[in-house]
Amino acid sequence: MDKTAVTHYPIHELLAKRWSPRAFSGKAVTAEVLGSLFEAARWAASCYNEQPWRFIVARREEPDAYDTLLGCLVEGNQAWAVQAPVLMLGIAKQTFTRNGKPNAHARHDLGLATAGMMAQAGALGLYMHAMGGILPEKAAGIYRVPDDFQVCTGIALGYLGDPESLAEPMKTGELEARVRKPLTEIVFASGWEEPAGFL
Ligand SMILES: Cc1cc2nc3c(=O)[nH]c(=O)nc-3n(C[C@H](O)[C@H](O)[C@H](O)COP(=O)(O)O)c2cc1C
Repeated sequence: MDKTAVTHYPIHELLAKRWSPRAFSGKAVTAEVLGSLFEAARWAASCYNEQPWRFIVARREEPDAYDTLLGCLVEGNQAWAVQAPVLMLGIAKQTFTRNGKPNAHARHDLGLATAGMMAQAGALGLYMHAMGGILPEKAAGIYRVPDDFQVCTGIALGYLGDPESLAEPMKTGELEARVRKPLTEIVFASGWEEPAGFL
């Protein structure tokens, strides 16, 4: 199964080979690897260096904690994410610590941190799958997340598994080619939807 991005211009292998699996193997993720992943997230850029990202993590080795976090995902995501040896929640602080004003870029910067973590995961042979399908209010209550923070995403992490382990239609989806809009639909120059001439 090759899910490598088909590109018109060359990109780094780490980016081309990243994708979001639903089938994960049973192989555990060591504490050292997890440390590297959060270190990668920690060094992301952020507006005013606010570093608004926070993560809650649960490992299969701690079944109660794992089940608690699994229960913060919508059922459709629980169905496959239960294979992943590590689950996380991505949380963003919504105000700047320096002045208490709203941070309109908090979720952007959580995304940057998560992308950094995804790149590090790829470098270490792991895969991550982000999820918007979570129960943010339930998670906020369980983990006593302060009002100023927004529970934004779930993340499944682990080593690649066997697509055959998934029920349909997830199994078919796992084998499908990855698709993207063409560059001309997303990179504009002189005006809206006017593709940059160099493309
Ligand atoms: C913020 C975010 C939320 C997502 N939510 C879900 C989700 O709830 N369930 C799911 O199965 N996939 C989810 N995905 C995965 C996307 O469907 C996937 O990234 C997209 O189809 C592109 O596929 P690729 O990551 O394999 O290139 C999410 C991805 C992101 C970044």
